[in-house]
Amino acid sequence: MMRTNLCGELTQADIGRTVTVAGWVNRRREHGEHLAFVDLRDHSGIVQCVVDNTVDVRSEYVITVTGTVSQRPEGTVNENLATGQIEITEAEVTVLSTAEPPPFPLDERADDVDEMVRLRHRYLDLRRPRMQRNLRIRSQVNAAIRAAMVDQGFVEVETPMLMPTTPEGAREFIVPSRQRPGTFFALPQSPQLYKQLLMVGGLDRYFQIARCLRDEDLRADRQYEFMQLDLEMSFVEVDDVLSAVEVSVLDAAEAVTGVRPDPIPRMSWLEAMNRFGTDKPDLRFDMELVELTDVFAATEFKAFASAGSIKGINAIAAAADWGRNKLDGLTDTAKSFGAKGMVWLKVADDGSFESPVAKFLSETEQQELGKRLEANPGDLLLLIADEWHTTCEVLGELRNRMGRPPVSEGPFRYVWIVDFPLFVGVDAATGRPKAGHHAFCHPRPEDIDKLESDPMSVRAWAYDLVLNGWELGSGSIRIHDPELQQRVFTLLGIGPEEAESRFGFFLNPFKYGAPPHGGFAYGLERLAAILAGEENIREVIAFPKPQSGLDPMTGAPTEVEQSQLHELGLRVLPPPVD
Ligand code: AMO
Repeated sequence: MMRTNLCGELTQADIGRTVTVAGWVNRRREHGEHLAFVDLRDHSGIVQCVVDNTVDVRSEYVITVTGTVSQRPEGTVNENLATGQIEITEAEVTVLSTAEPPPFPLDERADDVDEMVRLRHRYLDLRRPRMQRNLRIRSQVNAAIRAAMVDQGFVEVETPMLMPTTPEGAREFIVPSRQRPGTFFALPQSPQLYKQLLMVGGLDRYFQIARCLRDEDLRADRQYEFMQLDLEMSFVEVDDVLSAVEVSVLDAAEAVTGVRPDPIPRMSWLEAMNRFGTDKPDLRFDMELVELTDVFAATEFKAFASAGSIKGINAIAAAADWGRNKLDGLTDTAKSFGAKGMVWLKVADDGSFESPVAKFLSETEQQELGKRLEANPGDLLLLIADEWHTTCEVLGELRNRMGRPPVSEGPFRYVWIVDFPLFVGVDAATGRPKAGHHAFCHPRPEDIDKLESDPMSVRAWAYDLVLNGWELGSGSIRIHDPELQQRVFTLLGIGPEEAESRFGFFLNPFKYGAPPHGGFAYGLERLAAILAGEENIREVIAFPKPQSGLDPMTGAPTEVEQSQLHELGLRVLPPPVD
């Protein structure tokens, strides 16, 4: 070994010992005529070394230092540093690598540096304590969930990266085949189909820390490539799946934070929509949606008279801060989420409402409104009237906008959302229902009769795990009966012939004896980011893509040689002219 100790682990207990440490020069300061202080950094921390000032070391040089651990002289102790009581004196320095000055400071000041600069030099960014911490949190998460799955009798199986295209919902990355030009593999959006075939294959309990790829627009919680804890189990019901997932998530959280979260509560999808306006409620704050439809049952106010559902929130914002311009902006926001309009009412000091629509609301309506929303002077009330789904969704967005704390603010509030509808919304192009999760979710048995007559009322054995307003994962009990699967496909507009030609490879195996089964997958970056208090999953990924999707470090995606295209039977068209 080139070193005896890590920089950050030296303490007063080591005083008098001769040690060798290795790392990067964090900072050099001259000290008197003959000496210099070198702060040496490795992943564990920083230690101060007192060296001869003739030694030529500069920022980010890689060196080893051998010397004696000594108590710092009185008045020079640094309380902000874990090793601040000691320093390494009489230090001998060996330079292992010289370094050009880094393009940005490798400490917390880099948080304000243009992200493209950080990502272009990600290998330098990774030297910073924040990134070191985040990647180590991810590693702890991985280790904890792998142990939790093995402990629970799950078998780790790798599934292919090259597969046919599938009906899972996201846009796929496709890979041209050289041996059969004109045909393509798809990269997995998830191991969904393979893991179900593993159940047909008798694996019983499968898991994988699986890389998934989706060609989606990137956001704070979305990358092209990400990792899932993916699992599938045979002969199980909803409770069995939730409990296996819960053990792994709580183990991971405990490994990172040192605190085991409470058992995760459950909430039905319908309740989540009614109370929070979303299927991923952030339970760290209240500001719940309040039902008002009946208050306005006989209203004279036109915008409310014909609405199927009226709800409101008390945004408890100091109404004085919300002038006309800001409120107009908020109304535009509500419209951008699909509302026809938004009603706002400020509560004045005497309890009366200030609002352009107040004059259209009767005295009784105003009183009941104030009571239901627990309005106090200074509050701001926001109301939406529309069909139920839109009313909920728009208010859910407004609730988040008005009340949601930053990710870095605790506590961690996990919640299971259960009993999702089998279908959500209607495909504008085909007029057919759209699968809520994916096409393989099992309808609740008591609702199967209504599949054809009232499909939108059918609930699924489908569930999501939500943490602080982020969807961590989803899963379901699957359809294992080929006939029921075809009924669902038919509702989605996929006839038997198309089903056979597109997914025959997946459906036919179910004719050979498929066990009832179900599973789940959750995003490791999302879990690690929240546990690390990061707003963007990029911060817990070693080499992420920025929002543009273009990698500033490697330049990917790049053009390829004509000969490669030729071999694949491909020709690139000129970019379309607008
Ligand atoms: P789903 O599509 O809901 O389910 O994905 C599960 C979880 O994967 C994470 N995730 C992502 N993370 C980062 N970037 C992305 N682009 C991205 N897309 C998804 C999320 C999400 O909740 N096969 C099913 C699971 C099942 O039914 O068993 C599936 O993949 O945390």
